[in-house]
Amino acid sequence: MKIIHAKDYNDLSRKAANIISAQVILKPESVLGLATGSSPLGIYRQLIIWYEKGDLDFSATTAVNLDEYCNLPPDNPQSYHAFMRQNFFDHININPARVHIPNGMASDLETECRRYDQLIQSLGGIDLQLLGIGRNAHIGFNEPDSCFSKYTHKVALSESTIAANTRFFDREEDVPRQAISMGMQAITQARKILLIASGPDKADALCACCFGPVTPQVPASILQLHQDVTIIADEESLSKCP
Ligand code: F6R
Repeated sequence: MKIIHAKDYNDLSRKAANIISAQVILKPESVLGLATGSSPLGIYRQLIIWYEKGDLDFSATTAVNLDEYCNLPPDNPQSYHAFMRQNFFDHININPARVHIPNGMASDLETECRRYDQLIQSLGGIDLQLLGIGRNAHIGFNEPDSCFSKYTHKVALSESTIAANTRFFDREEDVPRQAISMGMQAITQARKILLIASGPDKADALCACCFGPVTPQVPASILQLHQDVTIIADEESLSKCP
């Protein structure tokens, strides 16, 4: 794992956006694995600026997102479909046909999960996977568990994740309790992984991810087994690392 220290959130966002830009410039038809949440917002803002300046072209790029809530329609402003449109896709020239996000409204979620894994496989896997990290060290919505989930699957979100996600909803009871998440196979088969972490809330998770044992109780620890992981983290999130 390569750990890059960022001065602050802006520095982190620029450094991570540089890596994604390089990927898209060197391989315009890249498959990018993308994340939602607060952490990547600065990256998406920076990539939009460079796109508007004419430095980036996403017309040949494919996006596959990590996860989506169950039972929130794509036009619900809290859905990850809406998040990605609002914060990234609506502002760049990515072809909507090349944007993929799990369908949390599918009547048969098992079939939807299999479809998503087959889709990623048919794209030839992911070139660069962007990850945030949960306070409990989840990646995607792979929550701490007794074993790693290999395939895309339906998840019962943990109390800690529900509490963290409450900030995006008016009321705690509105926060979805279930989601579909990409599994560890698609994530760890990505050719490159870029994990970003910002703020003191992530310090325990980041330390356990990088320096603790590899265990499904710390889902992000699986990244220690991957040969091309870059972590960009600010000082606060690195404060508990040795
Ligand atoms: C989002 C995702 C999650 C988040 C994580 C951190 O698509 O997969 O794993 O990356 O919950 O969220 P933030 O960035 O909001 O702290």
